[in-house]
Amino acid sequence: MNVALGLLGCGTVGEGVVALTVRRADKIKDLTGFYPVIEQILVRDLHKTRNVSLKPGQLTANASEILENPNISIIVETMGGIEPARSYILEALRRKKHVVTANKDLIALHGPEILQVAEESGVEVLFEAAVGGAIPLVGPLKENLTANEVTDLKGIINGTTNFILTKMTESGADFDEALAEAQALGFAEADPTSDVDGLDAARKLVILASIAFHTKVELGDVQVEGIRRVTARDVQYAKEIGCVLKLIATGSDRAGKLSLRVRPALIPGNHPLAHVSGSYNALFVRGDAAGDLMFFGRGAGSMPTASAVLGDVIALLRNIGLGVAGSPASRILLEKQVVPDDLPYRHYVRFSVDDMPGVFARIANMFGDAQVSMETVLQKRVSHGEAEIVIVTHEIPSNRIDGLRDALLRMTNVRAIHCVMPVEPLSD
Ligand code: NAP
Ligand code: HSE
Repeated sequence: MNVALGLLGCGTVGEGVVALTVRRADKIKDLTGFYPVIEQILVRDLHKTRNVSLKPGQLTANASEILENPNISIIVETMGGIEPARSYILEALRRKKHVVTANKDLIALHGPEILQVAEESGVEVLFEAAVGGAIPLVGPLKENLTANEVTDLKGIINGTTNFILTKMTESGADFDEALAEAQALGFAEADPTSDVDGLDAARKLVILASIAFHTKVELGDVQVEGIRRVTARDVQYAKEIGCVLKLIATGSDRAGKLSLRVRPALIPGNHPLAHVSGSYNALFVRGDAAGDLMFFGRGAGSMPTASAVLGDVIALLRNIGLGVAGSPASRILLEKQVVPDDLPYRHYVRFSVDDMPGVFARIANMFGDAQVSMETVLQKRVSHGEAEIVIVTHEIPSNRIDGLRDALLRMTNVRAIHCVMPVEPLSD
């Protein structure tokens, strides 16, 4: 039996979905009893060249043709953005069509509203592709790991920034050069703001944390810092002390107190996340029963993302076949408090000082007075009369690092503080 799908968007992901649906149609029929056919596809520009073969009349620029088509029972949304994608999805749900979406921005900002309407209409919304591209993350957190109390999420969930930071580490390039290369190779978008400023990772963290911690998480709950201020110098110093610099998203649940954060951090070279390079993504999950798990793979791209989209379509077709698609979900929503991340971390501090006798001794005294213990110290003369000092501290609470920064700035021979960054523990 054929099942008609309506596709909203035929760009990078949409084209992958078209190609993979054709390639796997027979297998899907064997697995589910339904032979999938993409009946109509919404685009903006009907005359653009597409990288997949399409039937005459398959494209439309009129969303109503798809949303009002009674043959279409599943809408696959790969157009992106908030509007009109939100309105189209809500209309599809109200018309009792199931929805599969890759749209992390929409799910992060309007997930609760969309899930509510789906539940009221007795249909499903699936969004595995919204986080981590090909990597199964939503499914394991929603299904396979539900016997656990998940306490920690930690990962690299933005491929663009990981590509940029990997380039900076491997070639010594500065941020602007690495970003330009990422754009030239198609890894970074023309407007890379949401990636480099950490917003894309924060939105993905909102989705993951909501599912893992069974609560409602909002974007404003996440402390976000991107990678714009990361310099080639800090990347090279990180290497010298056996670390790599990564944009890390963390979520923790300590007895109902949640901390959610995206920020650049130094990762020790023997930490599993240190080896996640280029546009790859990885997520570390800790469950009280499962222990530590690590998910790794391609976080974006046409076919990797299509793999996740089509996986959701197949799950949906199975449920339709069993007559259970859209059954009320047993979602637990717990009240939890969001608190700032004040866990103690080691810190990397880079600053420049006057290169003259006694200065380092006074700095060492000042660290002692501030109750901050030094773990690693590097000093280099950068120009006549100026030295640069890099200190990695032992673990200190974040409020103490602010006091240390203020005390350093008050010292007469300290010229500037260039960078203060956390260093992730070797094992959590
Ligand atoms: P894209 O290449 O820009 O494709 C967007 C498609 O949607 C295009 O075909 C475009 O039509 C169509 N479209 C956009 N706005 C429209 C509108 N108002 N009316 C009609 N058609 C419209 O985007 P993408 O990279 O495939 O991303 C799609 C979604 O997947 C986004 O939510 C993104 O966050 C998510 N995602 C992407 C990746 C990835 O690797 N790219 C990975 C994971 C998740 P035209 O072709 O005519 O312009
Ligand atoms: N812009 C995203 C990234 C694409 O760089 O990871 C996948 O969501």
